[in-house]
Amino acid sequence: MKDLYSFPHDFTWGAGISAYQTEGGVNAGGRGVSIWDEFEKKKSIRNKHSASVACDFYNRYASDLRSVKWLGLSHFKTSISWPRIQPSGKGNINKAGADFYDRLTDEMLEQGIEPWYVAYHWDLPAELQKKGGWTNRDTVFRFLDYCDLCFGLLGDRVNNWIVMNEPLVFVGAGYFMGIHAPGRRGMNNFLPALHHVNLANAQGIKNLKNLGAKHVGTAHSFASIHPSTKLDVDIKAANRVHLAINQSFIDPMLGYGYPTEKLPFMKKIERYWEQNDGQLLLASPDFWGVQVYTREIVKYAWWMPYIQARIISAKSRKKIVSSIGQEVYYPALSEVLDWFIQHKASDTPVYITECGISMQESFLEQPFDDTYRIEYYQNVLETLKPHIQNSNVKGLFYWSLMDNFEWAEGYFAPFGLFHVDFKTLKRTPKKSAEWVRNLLGQ
Ligand code: BGC
Repeated sequence: MKDLYSFPHDFTWGAGISAYQTEGGVNAGGRGVSIWDEFEKKKSIRNKHSASVACDFYNRYASDLRSVKWLGLSHFKTSISWPRIQPSGKGNINKAGADFYDRLTDEMLEQGIEPWYVAYHWDLPAELQKKGGWTNRDTVFRFLDYCDLCFGLLGDRVNNWIVMNEPLVFVGAGYFMGIHAPGRRGMNNFLPALHHVNLANAQGIKNLKNLGAKHVGTAHSFASIHPSTKLDVDIKAANRVHLAINQSFIDPMLGYGYPTEKLPFMKKIERYWEQNDGQLLLASPDFWGVQVYTREIVKYAWWMPYIQARIISAKSRKKIVSSIGQEVYYPALSEVLDWFIQHKASDTPVYITECGISMQESFLEQPFDDTYRIEYYQNVLETLKPHIQNSNVKGLFYWSLMDNFEWAEGYFAPFGLFHVDFKTLKRTPKKSAEWVRNLLGQ
């Protein structure tokens, strides 16, 4: 470690990607259709971009893993594409799809890279969405079967499992705001999806542990929430937003239940509640994945349905914003950790399972000059210092290994340490990649 303080020698340093954002090969080996393939067909993606080729990780994984090694990292996180190994979300494993993850895992191990697999990073089989997707309780059972398949396939070689990636985002954006797949809107979609995803997440953790998985966690996104003024109404409004976005997806698992007292609209979740759900929602993961990209400033707004609060956009606050409109605010992660470590009230370790930023260098003349990204990481790592020393923060995964398909933003928002030319698929290390390599003393 050259220009920062020393991290513990056993600190986990890794990089991450996800299946849909990088693999491409959407028609290869009998892969089924996912809700994101369908969403793309509706031209819902910026510039009508498509992930059908993406980074072609499906074919180029071996050299991409060499890039992980080149960076000096020995942990790599990606997700399993559900429709690749179980095309309709039901039934037997698809051999050709399973073979891909077999080869990928063997390659990681051969190169001395420890695999971390996310079971669900948003690419639900479209067949399941026809029956309501996460609004249908049956999807919980389908998901548990799928987790069995994943463990049966890779459990002999893989220790680290992350059951879900950012439930808040795929439920909030996909089932409330309609800006992510499957493009559903409103409370009548959001509440059942919230409850079923929480059940699937908790049961998924228990399931994998029962099957013998060694290190099972789940990854949540959080934002640091600040009130816009010291007025009581704004403080209360910020608190409601905090409950809605930071707690609704973790509190049931921690045994605190849904925050219905301060968020009365959530009481309607009773409609989807079955006997024993209180128990079924509980789980004790071996670790928590924490992912924080920004802070939000909240103001009281009596006219806003459900929550009587509004988020003041970073742009209107004249802050430096990322290419996806988020404020660039270095202390957000450590502020969230201050709260979360107390809130979870246990010694369960935390991994920063994603950490990254994007400011559109792909469209600049110097696409490899991402000095801002180095500054971002330097500052964020600095704010992590007390947590590394005093609490159980055990590792960090850079997001992302390479530029990739940024969901509704298409290729507009590059998050990579490696630049990808999406015409030639050539990868080139950016300045930040050199910095990471240097930081780890290569
Ligand atoms: C998601 C990633 C995404 C990143 C940057 C996270 O919410 O897990 O898939 O690329 O944010 O927006």
